[in-house]
Amino acid sequence: MTDPHLNDLLEFLRFPSVSTQSVHASDMVACATWIREKFLKIGLEAKICETGGHPAVIAHTVHDPAKRTVLIYGHYDVQPPEPLEEWKSPPFEPEIRDGRIFARGATDNKGQILAHILGMGEILARGETPPVNVTFLVEGEEETGSEHLEAFLESHRAELACDVIVISDTGMAAHAHPTLTYALRGIAALECVLTGPSQDLHSGVFGGAVTNPATALARLVATLHDADGRVAIPGFYDAVQPLADWERQAADALPITEEQLRQLTGVPALAGEPGYSSIERIGARPTVEVNGLGGGYQGEGTKTVLPREAFAKLTMRLVPQQDPATILQLVGDHLKAHCPDTVRIQITGGHCGEAYFMDPNHPDGLAARRALKEVFGCEPSLMREGGSIPIVTTFKNILGADSLLLALASPDCCAHSPNENFPIENFHTGIRLHQAVLRELGKAQELPL
Ligand code: BES
Ligand code: ZN
Repeated sequence: MTDPHLNDLLEFLRFPSVSTQSVHASDMVACATWIREKFLKIGLEAKICETGGHPAVIAHTVHDPAKRTVLIYGHYDVQPPEPLEEWKSPPFEPEIRDGRIFARGATDNKGQILAHILGMGEILARGETPPVNVTFLVEGEEETGSEHLEAFLESHRAELACDVIVISDTGMAAHAHPTLTYALRGIAALECVLTGPSQDLHSGVFGGAVTNPATALARLVATLHDADGRVAIPGFYDAVQPLADWERQAADALPITEEQLRQLTGVPALAGEPGYSSIERIGARPTVEVNGLGGGYQGEGTKTVLPREAFAKLTMRLVPQQDPATILQLVGDHLKAHCPDTVRIQITGGHCGEAYFMDPNHPDGLAARRALKEVFGCEPSLMREGGSIPIVTTFKNILGADSLLLALASPDCCAHSPNENFPIENFHTGIRLHQAVLRELGKAQELPL
């Protein structure tokens, strides 16, 4: 391999750093160690930090009190690779095909965070002093809701103090199209279990005389939306703010059509809340999604059984002003109110994160847009992202800093899915973008107050 940057990415991608699977705990440590060594090699001070969960890695440039400080955040943990049989090449044996690198984590988030690290490496290799102070924070629990990072931020406030944060962990509006993500949806997770008989029953011997938990669950899940696709939970939309005119215009101007979106998803036709475009439904409207549904016999052939339990895993995607705890309460109450008393219902709340919104016309937003324009050669789009990075709002609350979300993921990157990939072009663009955004953010400190 002649390209040393690409070689670094291939090495990084070989760690099966799946945060949610305990079998990979030692791979997480090995991956964090590799990142620390990378920082040391490019010339930064770096350390591995215990968080109470998977370790985080922090690195700093030499601090100059006269300069602004930029925090670069990313994550080295990845989603589980399953279903394995749908991958064209093994998820942790990166392979290059058609100018893209295929591996779990290629886009989300190893390729994107490594681009920033190597961008700094290029600055230092030229013998230059970075235009701003830079702190890197690379964590290992983003894909499981950054459970330990909030307490870690509280206890490392001084070390992580910064003027602004830069993150590349979101999607571009179109391939190779510069995009500043100015909003993220929040999230609230919940699991609902219905139980009926004390054990699985013969469906011929007992069927008809007891409520089948799987049937009850299907009916319950069907009450979550009305026939048009709006969420039918009382109070769900209460805190939702209407979209500003400029936002609707920005959404309309994005270089992606409904038909392209349909093709990207592979569905026969798009669908969603009436009155909004698909882009608006994804970025700016809250949803309730069933992520998993189960119960009863899943094996080969028939088994005439009446299952003792059935479960649904739900996540709600939230928009600014919606409080995740309130939403969990509303959804839980709704499910209980609609559950027949011939089965028992158990509801367990999961991870939560608030939505995020920043003004793209803030001076740092403008600096980010100039950097994107310089590197991509055209005016960046402003986009709301449907995905969530809950720690971004926590950064705002604890560190008092906004996050500039500079997208490097392509729309067809298959994040969280089989055959995740990162165009090599995006990787190299990211390396240049890092340097451009630091330059632009550095200029802000030269402006008179
Ligand atoms: N990089 C994503 C966030 C994202 C998703 C950006 C889709 C652009 C498009 C991040 O790694 C992620 O997957 N976040 C989770 C958060 C959850 C586990 C708390 C998400 O959105 O599901
Ligand atoms: Zn992810």
